[in-house]
Amino acid sequence: MAAALTPATPLRFKPYSTLRFLSFYSKNPTSPRLFPPLPRRSVPSHSTFHRKRCFCSFISAALQSGEMKKTEFAENKVGEMGNKIGDFRKKVKIANIKGGPDEGLNWVGQTLVVMGWVRTLRVQSSVTFLEVNDGSSLSNMQCVMNSDAEGYDQVESGLISTGASIWVQGALVASQGSKQKVELKVEKVVLVGKSDPSYPIQKKRVSREFLRSKAHLRPRTNTFGAVARVRNALAYATHKFFQENGFVWISSPIITASDCEGAGEQFCVTTLIPSSREAADSPVNAIPNTKDGLIDWSQDFFGKPAFLTVSGQLNAETYATALTDVYTFGPTFRAENSNTSRHLAEFWMIEPELAFADLNDDMACATAYLQYVVRHVLDNCKEDMEFFNTWIEKGVIDRLNDVAEKDFVQLTYTDAIELLLKANKKFEFPVKWGCDLQSEHERYITEQAFNGCPVIIRDYPKEIKAFYMRENDDGKTVAAMDMLVPRVGELIGGSQREERLDYLENRLDELKLNKESYWWYLDLRRYGSVPHAGFGLGFERLVQFATGVENIRDAIPFPRTPGDISRGHAPTVTTTAYIVLGQRNEFDWNPESERRNLQCCKLELRRPRDTRIAGGSWPSSVSGKPKG
Ligand code: 4AD
Ligand code: MG
Repeated sequence: MAAALTPATPLRFKPYSTLRFLSFYSKNPTSPRLFPPLPRRSVPSHSTFHRKRCFCSFISAALQSGEMKKTEFAENKVGEMGNKIGDFRKKVKIANIKGGPDEGLNWVGQTLVVMGWVRTLRVQSSVTFLEVNDGSSLSNMQCVMNSDAEGYDQVESGLISTGASIWVQGALVASQGSKQKVELKVEKVVLVGKSDPSYPIQKKRVSREFLRSKAHLRPRTNTFGAVARVRNALAYATHKFFQENGFVWISSPIITASDCEGAGEQFCVTTLIPSSREAADSPVNAIPNTKDGLIDWSQDFFGKPAFLTVSGQLNAETYATALTDVYTFGPTFRAENSNTSRHLAEFWMIEPELAFADLNDDMACATAYLQYVVRHVLDNCKEDMEFFNTWIEKGVIDRLNDVAEKDFVQLTYTDAIELLLKANKKFEFPVKWGCDLQSEHERYITEQAFNGCPVIIRDYPKEIKAFYMRENDDGKTVAAMDMLVPRVGELIGGSQREERLDYLENRLDELKLNKESYWWYLDLRRYGSVPHAGFGLGFERLVQFATGVENIRDAIPFPRTPGDISRGHAPTVTTTAYIVLGQRNEFDWNPESERRNLQCCKLELRRPRDTRIAGGSWPSSVSGKPKG
């Protein structure tokens, strides 16, 4: 273990100092430090950027000055055995140094430490340039090194190369070059983890497709670093928006027995398939059967079929009818065989639910939310947005500015159909009243008919929407709304919920859904029912929309799509529950769907370490046109 943690420069490290070095704290205050502690610098006060970012330094400073009692208490307690834990101190990152309005000039003259990964290395006759990136910003720190710098031998010998992780200390100076305002004049460099020429992320440009096959290394590229930071900003802004508006965050369950959308596109979660490695060769007939030859779900972990959730909405409704305004933000799963640039099998969804609200309130909330998060990204991710504007989608910043400022359009489904019928364009999927809108229709409406403006389409035919949507007075349509945006199509799907018990029961009957299974959902209408509405926003589609990345696989760290789970981190067999592609419907379990399950179970058993279907193809029984 100690050997595994020993850094690449063993002569410079004592084996047990490695971890302490990496966490920056001396476990034992009397033990020698790997590097002499740097004098604590005060954060320049004129920059709000720094003030915001270095909150931990302020917190630890406050602890040191004003809260001595806490430390004394800890010291008394540890006295006889164990050592106290050091204060948490935020590392100074490249973004802190270069992110301010003067791009780092206010730090000139300071001795700084930068830790990161070598992006490029240029050895010139008298000087060596190292571009180091720590992921805090798009910008690298240019580190300039002479042969007299301590550790230069590691550059000379080729130990420090592209992809290696390093620790560099030096003085920040004004840069001679035009590309940056400041650079680090290296006094000392330490190799933390070496790389070698097989490192796949070299300077030359590589395709997104290639990078998808290197999902574990792609965050070290400009594009994926920027996407990760913007994704993070969108998540932060999401919580900020809802918290500022009085919503309560609710975590909805990931394992569920109900199918919210009723589309039968759920992954089944089961322990009926043996989970130990020894049992990997179990025959299919090891799965318990009833005497009718059906799967005996009573022997499964939950005593009945269970699935990964497709939406947290039904659970959110229970909390909205108690806490008024709530939201969920979590992973959802869909076993739809949609190999498109906007579908994932695992994606994150934001689902607010508003009590005492109708469809108009819902549309207003969706609009305010989208404008808020877009504004947040424009204000807080300037460098990354400039990068997307130059390299990914020219004009993305103007497009987002328009979204943040302009009014959105709403029109009824009936009007949208009329507009499509009149369009001077031939669509692949024919248009008529009652049809589900396809991506090509949605994009035509928002991109061409309304010139790039987000459009909300409302009042859809009830036949193409889920059971829970509120029926309109015409008896044909429901109070549903989809928000369509350029490039992505449907970004948001929502509705006013049917709050009238008799209407909801009738709808469940019409759709042949088992009322008993929805007893708790119907209870919400039995006791203190209230008009309420909500929506779901696909988080990765929002990332696509905000960054301009074309493929949804590039908007999530580890994409899961049909036939592809091996990229990034494959699951291991040590989990107790297997997830198999299942044709859901606990209320309508039929032999055909079981047969499909069995097929998939068999495939799982053959390849327990990799859930890809052998040969890379999906079972032909699993099909369906892209939805959502
Ligand atoms: O329109 P959907 O299916 O609506 C619901 O799930 C509702 N229960 C939400 C609610 O009212 N609380 O999905 C909502 C959004 C879509 O508009 C789309 O942005 C996204 O989720 N989405 C997907 N994103 C990526 N991959 C998929 N396979 C997706 N399916 C839906
Ligand atoms: Mg939808």
